[in-house]
Formats: sequence, structure tokens, C-alpha cells
Amino acid sequence: MNREGIAQRMKSIRPFYVMELLARARALEAEGRSIIHMEVGEPDFATPQPIVDGGKRALDEGRTGYTPATGIPELRRAIADDYKKRYGAEVNPERIVVTPGSSGALQLVMSVLVNPGEAVLMADPGYPCNRHFVQLVAGEPVTVPVGAESGYQLTAEMVEKAWSDHTRAVMVATPSNPTGTLLSREELESIYRVVSQRGGVLIVDEIYQGLVYGGESCTALAVADDIFVINSFSKYYGMTGWRLGWLVAPESHLGAIERLAQNIFLSAPTPAQYAALSAFGRDTQEIVEQRKTAFQARRIICCRPCVILDSKSLSLPAAPSISMPTAQLLPMIAMHLPWDYWSRKAWRLLRVWILVTINRNSTFASPTPPIFLT
Ligand SMILES: Cc1ncc(COP(=O)(O)O)c(C=O)c1O
Repeated sequence: MNREGIAQRMKSIRPFYVMELLARARALEAEGRSIIHMEVGEPDFATPQPIVDGGKRALDEGRTGYTPATGIPELRRAIADDYKKRYGAEVNPERIVVTPGSSGALQLVMSVLVNPGEAVLMADPGYPCNRHFVQLVAGEPVTVPVGAESGYQLTAEMVEKAWSDHTRAVMVATPSNPTGTLLSREELESIYRVVSQRGGVLIVDEIYQGLVYGGESCTALAVADDIFVINSFSKYYGMTGWRLGWLVAPESHLGAIERLAQNIFLSAPTPAQYAALSAFGRDTQEIVEQRKTAFQARRIICCRPCVILDSKSLSLPAAPSISMPTAQLLPMIAMHLPWDYWSRKAWRLLRVWILVTINRNSTFASPTPPIFLT
């Protein structure tokens, strides 16, 4: 314990800078300033109405108590059915643990897998909180620099090279944050082979699944049964504030995960779980697919100025082979911008340039504080 009474482990936990930016932006909004939010990864669309209605129904019906720690059985079943429908993957609903956001799932996974001093390999740039989930359990996040050559993703060779005696797990995200690139099924299989031959564990974050353009989307669940898969209702279903995600775990680890979930979360938010049952209905699916098309249009507009600005060979994100030296954040940006933004043509190029410039010092690459523009 240091003098302020804060535990030593907090020394390594840096702020999630986008949340600081969000707080700053909200404060400016409260002063009456008009803010276009590009800081935090959430769609500018509100949650689809059928999901909102499902949430209201749950509240009206008094579904406000705890649920089982692993989630309501009907939601676990609905998620399993969706894997079958979309990807042909058979997943036992018992393997699905519903969590408070995928952030809750990440905390569970790191806690049940990583011993103090063990390393978890991950790509740099990557989702910044991952480092902290590892540090929280006294593990060591080992970031491996990735670039355009590998589509900003880890490869099996990189994993082999970075592996050490104390490596416990490898973490990948497909589509990735911040670059939006995909791992092909073949590359995922190669990484899985390398990891399992060494007795390690593969963790795959699929939370941007569904928002894929032009590449073939697959799930790691179709590759093997002993991969830990993280997912969420936050992005594709526009439910960031409902705090609902899930984890698909190998049967061998379910007991430990449930025990821990009982202790640290008790359960994921109950109205959100009932609301999410409406995510898989045809009416919601139509809405989220329309939104996906809207994101696609923005993504194309967003990428164009970058060709002029810097990129020598630019291909759009969310494709397995991609070369985008500076345009790392574009798929994320495309998701944030409201439609009225696009009508302000005069500012478009300038704003994208500012973002790309900021991104050179992005919080998603090795840690640096954000640059506040206002
Ligand atoms: C790659 C990735 N994983 C996990 C999360 C956490 O999301 P949530 O807890 O809302 O599901 C985010 C949020 O932006 C993310 O980008």
C-alpha cells in the first residue's frame, strides 16, 4: 500500500483515455456546445426500437431481480441459435455466459486463465483496456507491433516468435479495434495451432462481428471448442449503454467462470437481458442491417480523403489483406459520425485529417495521453 492508500496494482492501470474525452465532450455539451462524438466506439444510432420495447416490457413485468450468474437460459439459447444460423457453428448454450458488456467477459477470462507473472500476447495497436485486464490479475501484457504487412493483425509466425516460457495466452480481435481488419479463417487456424501446440490458450474478441464489409466473417467457434470467444450486444445491436455481452468458454472452464461471475457480478443487468431477446427477431435484424449499410456509405467517404492525404496503397478496412498506413481508425470513425455531419462538406477533409493526425498518437497504440482539441 502506498501513502495514498491505493493498491500497487493501480500503478499500471492507465485511464481509458476515450472515456476521459467523452466526459470532456459531455461537459462541453452541457455548456451548450455542439459536439460530434468521435471518441468512444459506439454507433450514433439509438438502440433499435424492438429491443427498447423488449426492455420496457421486462420492466413492466417486474423483471428487475437477479438472474442466474451465467444469464437467462432463453438468451443463452438464442445466442447459440444465432451462431448456428449465421455461421453453421454448433454451440452448446451451456458454454455461453452472459456478462455485463464484453468488458465483464474479458475480466472473467483473464481472471480464470492468467496466473501472476504469466504473459498474454496481443497486437499493438489494439484495444487499450486489454492490457489492463491482464495487469489487474498481475499478468504481463506483451504487445507485439503489427503493421500493414499483416493487416494489422498477429500472425502465427509472430506468435511463435513472441512466445516465451511464461506465455499463457494470445489475444486477437477480428474485426479488430482500431483497424477494423479481419483474420482469415486460415490465419486463425494457424494461430490456434501454434498456441495449442505450446499448451497456451487463444482468446478471440469478436465484438465487431456483424459489421464486416467485403471480407468473409467467421467465428473462432467454428475452428475449435477450446477457444475463448468474447462478444457483445454493444456494437452491432447498438446497445452500448445496456451493458450486455457474452463469453463462450470451453466446458473445462465453465465451473470456474460461473463461480467468479457469481462473486463479482452476481448477474448481468436483467432488463437488458430480456431486451436482448428481441435482438434476434426479424424486425431488429432488418434495422441493424440497414444501419450497417449506412456505416458502409460513411466508411467509403471516410477513406477517400486518406488516399489523398498519405496512403500509398489504400484498401478499405475489414478485408483480410489491407494496407492503410495512417487510416487506422477509419472504420471506427465511420461508425460514429451522424448523418448531418456528412452534409457539412467543407469541413469533411479537415476533420478527417485532424483525426488521422491524432491517431498517430492514438490511445490504441502504445500508451500516450490524448490530445484535447477544445
Ligand atoms: C475490441 C473491443 N473489445 C471490447 C470492448 C468493450 O465493449 P463492451 O464492454 O461495451 O461490450 C470494446 C469497446 O469499445 C472494444 O472495442
